[in-house]
Amino acid sequence: MSKINQITRESWIMSTFPEWGTWLNEEIEDEVVEPGTVAMWWLGCTGIWVKTPAGCNISIDLWCGNGKRTHGDGKMAVGHQMANMCGGRKMQPNLRAVPFVIDPFAIKTVDAVLATHYHQDHMSAEYAAHVINSGITTVDENGKEIPVPFIGPKKSVETWIKWGVPAERCVTVKPGDVIKIKDIEIVALDSFDRTCLVTTDSTGPDREELTGVCPTDMDDKAVNFLIKTPGGNIYHSGDSHYSIYFAKHGKDYDIDVAFGSYGENPVGMADKMTSCDILRMAEALRCEVVIPIHYDVWTNFMADVNEIKVLYDMKKDRLDYKFHPFFWEVGGKYVYPRDKERKAYHHPRGFEDCFEAPQNIPFRSCL
Ligand SMILES: [Fe+2]
Repeated sequence: MSKINQITRESWIMSTFPEWGTWLNEEIEDEVVEPGTVAMWWLGCTGIWVKTPAGCNISIDLWCGNGKRTHGDGKMAVGHQMANMCGGRKMQPNLRAVPFVIDPFAIKTVDAVLATHYHQDHMSAEYAAHVINSGITTVDENGKEIPVPFIGPKKSVETWIKWGVPAERCVTVKPGDVIKIKDIEIVALDSFDRTCLVTTDSTGPDREELTGVCPTDMDDKAVNFLIKTPGGNIYHSGDSHYSIYFAKHGKDYDIDVAFGSYGENPVGMADKMTSCDILRMAEALRCEVVIPIHYDVWTNFMADVNEIKVLYDMKKDRLDYKFHPFFWEVGGKYVYPRDKERKAYHHPRGFEDCFEAPQNIPFRSCL
């Protein structure tokens, strides 16, 4: 049979998707984390993979979905958090803007699945299914083999259970809770994700009425995480908006690397931190390095990190900033503190072994 007779839409999807295949899965598996360091990979949106010297692997907000794929009826669901927030009814044009860099079904090792909150771009039913169905295990504090825990706030746990994750696999955390796994300590902290506060359980005509109602408890809906590792303390702020309480977290904990959800909010929206907020967050947290995330993923919230750079350069001397921003790429690796002085990431460029094997060219003058 000819090639074109064998090709179908399904064969194209299977041979093309996920875009990075198992490249990143293999890289993470093969990474040997040096003592006193911690390796991290950006999975897109706020998805972060963390690996430690003791081989502790945790995922935070690993998500495998996308946004709009058709214009449909051009309307937003009544009761969607964005509709609740701004009173808009037109469909939000949030298309996924980055490739899938990890294959959730090819993950062989993970010690904990973490979610900061239950919005769709922070949890994955596909990944949950794989972790449950493949029987991946971890060890408890005494070295006893146990099933991999799913750790998140109450609403995330409810979502996992609704998907079929056994309740006994889930750990509900509130600010102040601490969980130890291998050589890391996970501290749950307050979230400041005010978009979560206007998120209702159901959308559609019978959605909850929020007008005049005292907000539900943020602690049930979202948490931030501090991950204490042998390489430093990592602060993951989920989708937190800016809060002056970042300063309290900065006083309560030593923070090395802080992730903040950055984005260019469309007019009528207050969902992501702005460039100014990212700098204010870093200053308040007293971190060493701040890394903007989330701005990559939605076409309608994409933002330029150079805006952070320009503001940083304007303010750093006068305000005596003790931190600097690091601009990452989805799929990239960052090892702390090894990469502490780096300001921006570039994917490996290859060709390090040039001229180490014989060339095959007509003349040297071709070069
Ligand atoms: Fe989000």
